[in-house]
Amino acid sequence: MKITNAEFIISNSDVSKCPNEPLPEYAFIGRSNVGKSSLINMLTNHKNLAKTSGRPGKTQLINHFKINLNWYLVDLPGYGYARVSKKTKEVFQKFITDYFETRQQLVCAFVLIDIRLEAQKIDLEFITYLGETEVPFCIVFTKADKIGKVKAQQNVAAYTKKLLANNWAEMPQYFITSSTDKTGKEEILTYIDEINQV
Ligand code: GTP
Ligand code: MG
Repeated sequence: MKITNAEFIISNSDVSKCPNEPLPEYAFIGRSNVGKSSLINMLTNHKNLAKTSGRPGKTQLINHFKINLNWYLVDLPGYGYARVSKKTKEVFQKFITDYFETRQQLVCAFVLIDIRLEAQKIDLEFITYLGETEVPFCIVFTKADKIGKVKAQQNVAAYTKKLLANNWAEMPQYFITSSTDKTGKEEILTYIDEINQV
């Protein structure tokens, strides 16, 4: 699929104020700084459609981007950022859980995981939460340009093992990506396109 049109629509912290058209949407979630906003820019061929930063905590709101006039990509704030208060660190931010629990338009969440790191407790907790909330999701391993291909495969295998040990029956659909060299772009867009066709 080619993205020919990508447009920022609205930012907000109130799920009820998100666009109310019945268009499918795909949300990007994961720890602060994992590369959610960069991935949206990579998928849409834009440098600054979604705001990125080397410092964690850049994205603070729910951001809707309308794609090809008939579906949405949604950039969300990260979780697990040390500088937010203890309360918001312990539980995922209320408006984020509201989003996942109430947003009818959400078709699939993409949970971003830094491919260089061992499985992090907070990501495993979030994945468990999505399972309990019955939100369909995929895993997107990010920053693959920072390690070699062999190491990447090893880390994905280790992650798979960890999820299976955490009571998942199988590894969900996953993608290995790099926003720097555009790895994984076609795979993710094809995946979304196939769902949109149904
Ligand atoms: P928050 O909005 O703070 O939650 O962060 P985010 O998950 O949106 O991360 P963002 O896209 O802002 O990227 C964080 C940093 O990682 C930036 O310095 C990006 O340039 C860098 N980055 C993101 N993706 C990649 C990647 O695939 N490869 C490399 N090398 N760096 C990346
Ligand atoms: Mg961001």
